[in-house]
Amino acid sequence: MGDNKRLTTSTGMPVGDNQHAITAGQRGPTLIQDVHLLEKLAHFNRERIPERVVHAKGAGAHGYFEVTNDVSKYTKADFLSEVGKRTPVFLRFSTVAGELGSADTVRDPRGFAVKFYTDEGNYDLVGNNTPIFFVRDAIKFPDFIHSQKRHPKTHLKDPNMVWDFFSLSPESLHQVTYLYGDRGIPATFRHMNGYGSNTFKWVNEEGEAHWVKYHFISDQGVKGLDEALAVKLAGENPDYHTEDLFHAIENGDYPSWTLYVQIMPIEDAKTYKWDPFDVTKVLSQKDYPRIEVGKLVLNRNPENYFAEVEQATFSPGNFVPGIEASPDRMLQGRLFAYADAHRYRVGANHNLIPINQPKVPVHHYQRDGWMRTDSNGGGAMNYEPNSYGGPVESAESKISPFEVSGEADSIRYPDDDHFTQAGDLYRLMTDEEKDRLIQAIVHHMKDVEKEEIKRRQIEHFYKADEEYGSRVAEGLGIDIAVK
Ligand code: HEM
Repeated sequence: MGDNKRLTTSTGMPVGDNQHAITAGQRGPTLIQDVHLLEKLAHFNRERIPERVVHAKGAGAHGYFEVTNDVSKYTKADFLSEVGKRTPVFLRFSTVAGELGSADTVRDPRGFAVKFYTDEGNYDLVGNNTPIFFVRDAIKFPDFIHSQKRHPKTHLKDPNMVWDFFSLSPESLHQVTYLYGDRGIPATFRHMNGYGSNTFKWVNEEGEAHWVKYHFISDQGVKGLDEALAVKLAGENPDYHTEDLFHAIENGDYPSWTLYVQIMPIEDAKTYKWDPFDVTKVLSQKDYPRIEVGKLVLNRNPENYFAEVEQATFSPGNFVPGIEASPDRMLQGRLFAYADAHRYRVGANHNLIPINQPKVPVHHYQRDGWMRTDSNGGGAMNYEPNSYGGPVESAESKISPFEVSGEADSIRYPDDDHFTQAGDLYRLMTDEEKDRLIQAIVHHMKDVEKEEIKRRQIEHFYKADEEYGSRVAEGLGIDIAVK
């Protein structure tokens, strides 16, 4: 009793022998009455939970966010309400397409998911290290991800699938240009930016709303990894980025990011040259300059990987008053997908797990379910409205109203210009960056079997920038003059 060195079963019974199962004599079989053995084997069989269907491989850390600039005229979010206010955070970095044990140093976007434990509940910003995405309608997401993962027959990653999908979904071109550029393989998790990518809405105390884009800019600088070195590291140390993050924090070299936002007046969305709810596009920083918000610092490693990183559940739907969704079609799909994944992967009561638990009391009428580990609402009423003083809604927390119009239908995006911004990104690169971009694309596309796929994709590159298309064609030995 009180002796934490004494081995027990999970029910607290002291264990008499943890080296030898109970057997019937020297040579006899193992007895089923050895409940410690049974529990040990049975629990071991249940150690795995489903890995995330995307972003399975990741590393996380704790830290804080501190406001450095007053943005209260744009949002009433309490955690952003005054300069100097600090909020604890947990951040998980990840790759997208690989499995739980896959290598860190692959060419892939990186996840940048932040949980702010605010005084008004958890706010999750589930972003990537790129400000844009491959597709702009949630209905295409499962197809996109299938094309990046394994072939149904060979179970191999397959460039045919990758480039078939990209070439048939030209809206991916901007993100493809990003991905095959230097930012496609970050040097470490510390040397990359994070972006909210989707557009969100900020609402102030007066009920005035603005559209907002988030940019976490790395204070360590942005650095890529040379592709040849990345391939070598993937073999020698598949956990290279995980290790780097852990050791940096352990050594007191705390990584930090400065958060900026781009703010767009609500009315501008109707007339701006790009649809701000199209996640394949960026907002020009000339039109909407970055405004500083605060600093995010990571200063504590998780004590237990499974408890804190694997069981962490981030959802773009976890908002706080003053921050709301936008009509971005990808974001709308994400509002469903994450919480649904959490119920499947961790369980309906996943918010009771310490890493996900808000740091404020919660008052709701959800009851029961697997792993209900708190008092389950005790004797309080489990329905609302009730006459027993149970929690009620607060009108000041309602969302800000917004206009909708038009006919319900499966409606195309009005804009099909997938090329201008991709071309701008290409033209922004230095000669050396362009060389590496072309090399990386050619290296990956050369194994595509169907010439039709290569030609279709080259056409997209060409439309973005003639030099871009010509150089990829040349690298692949395809004469674009001949159809
Ligand atoms: C993880 C769906 C687009 C960033 C996930 C997960 C799902 C999902 C189901 C696994 C969640 C879990 O098991 O905990 C979708 C859908 C999308 C979409 C349906 C589009 C409709 C995006 C975009 C971004 C993004 C645009 C970046 C801006 C992430 C990140 C994670 C993630 C960072 C990992 C979160 C973590 O660390 O636990 N996504 N996703 N996703 N997604 Fe998405």
